Order: sequence, then C-alpha cells, then structure tokens
Amino acid sequence: MAIVRGKEIEVLFSVEQIAEQNLKMAAEIAAGGHKDLIVIAILKGSFVFAADLIRALHAVKVEPEVEFISLASYGAGTTGGEVRILRDIESEVKDRDVLLIDDILESGNTLKFARDLMIERGANKVNIAVLLDKHSKRKADIDADYVGFDCPDYFVVGYGMDVGHAFRELPYVGVVKGDA
Ligand code: IMP
Ligand code: MG
Repeated sequence: MAIVRGKEIEVLFSVEQIAEQNLKMAAEIAAGGHKDLIVIAILKGSFVFAADLIRALHAVKVEPEVEFISLASYGAGTTGGEVRILRDIESEVKDRDVLLIDDILESGNTLKFARDLMIERGANKVNIAVLLDKHSKRKADIDADYVGFDCPDYFVVGYGMDVGHAFRELPYVGVVKGDA
C-alpha cells in the first residue's frame, strides 16, 4: 500500500512484474516474425508501456518505426462504442506489419477501430499488444496477440493510466482504495 496524492493505492502489478512481462512479450513478438514493422502506440494511456516495450524489443533485436495515434470514444462507458481520431499517424502502413500497443483491452471498441483502420489502409498484418486484458468486459469481437496480464475488473491507474488525469506517473499499476 502506498500513499499518493493523499490517496491509498494498492499495488496490483509491481515494477518488477511489469518489467518481466515486457521482456516476455518482446521475445514473443520477435519470435512471431515481422516485415517492415511499425509499432503504433494508442495515446494517451499506452505511452509508458510503449516506451518500455520498444526498449524490450531492442534487446531482442527488433527495430521498428514508432508512431502514435490518439483515439477517444464518444461517451466512454456508453454502449455506442464509436471511436474517433484526435490525432492520426503520419506514416503509411500499406504492405507493412503493424503492432498496435494499448494499455488496456476492455470493451475492445478502441482496438477494433484501430485494427480495422489499419487493415483498411492496406496493412499486411496487424497484431495487438496490451499490458492488461479485462476479458470479462469485452463487447467487440477482438483479442490481443500479446498480453502482459489478465486484469480483474477493477479501475486501475498508473504506468500511464489515469483517473481524472491523475496517477499516470506511478511506475506500477495500482487501484485507488480511498482517502489516506
Ligand atoms: P475499450 O477496450 O475500447 O473499452 O477501451 C479501453 C480503454 O479505456 C483503454 O485504452 C484505457 O484508456 C481506458 N480504460 C479502460 N479501463 C481502464 C482502467 O481501469 N483504468 C484506466 N483506463 C482504463
Ligand atoms: Mg486508452
């Protein structure tokens, strides 16, 4: 239990556990094979995970281009599930292998939108890496190829993920328990 911003935070996945999973995922990604790889981090939540994962990829000699796309859902938490692009990638994905990186796969609406978009743009192959998979919350027909951890149905923060723009800076994934 840590106290951050006056709140009690329970650590769900530690710095060490995350680092270990990142290395494991990087090894799996390398073993999967790839051609002209472009990794696309879905902002904002995935920026810390993506930064660590690409350095883990370096350790296994995978040398991708790195891009960013910023996506938002209309009325998050509603059933609509429409997703819009706030900021697009600048590079072409045609005939290339794409690795989408996101923090959490929950309903799946965000990643399904991103995957369909890249396929529509002519990507050769689209794979998905997520740090956390909240499988019980899935609505869209989509799964990740590389998963760090199965995540219980808690609202989590840290390691890039926020609640009300706070807690992205935590080096671990935690759950806000309440006022300290
Ligand atoms: P979905 O799969 O389209 O439902 O959206 C998943 C996105 O919602 C993730 O990329 C996160 O940005 C956000 N999200 C879902 N669950 C959590 C959580 O527990 N903490 C912080 N953000 C979350
Ligand atoms: Mg997100």
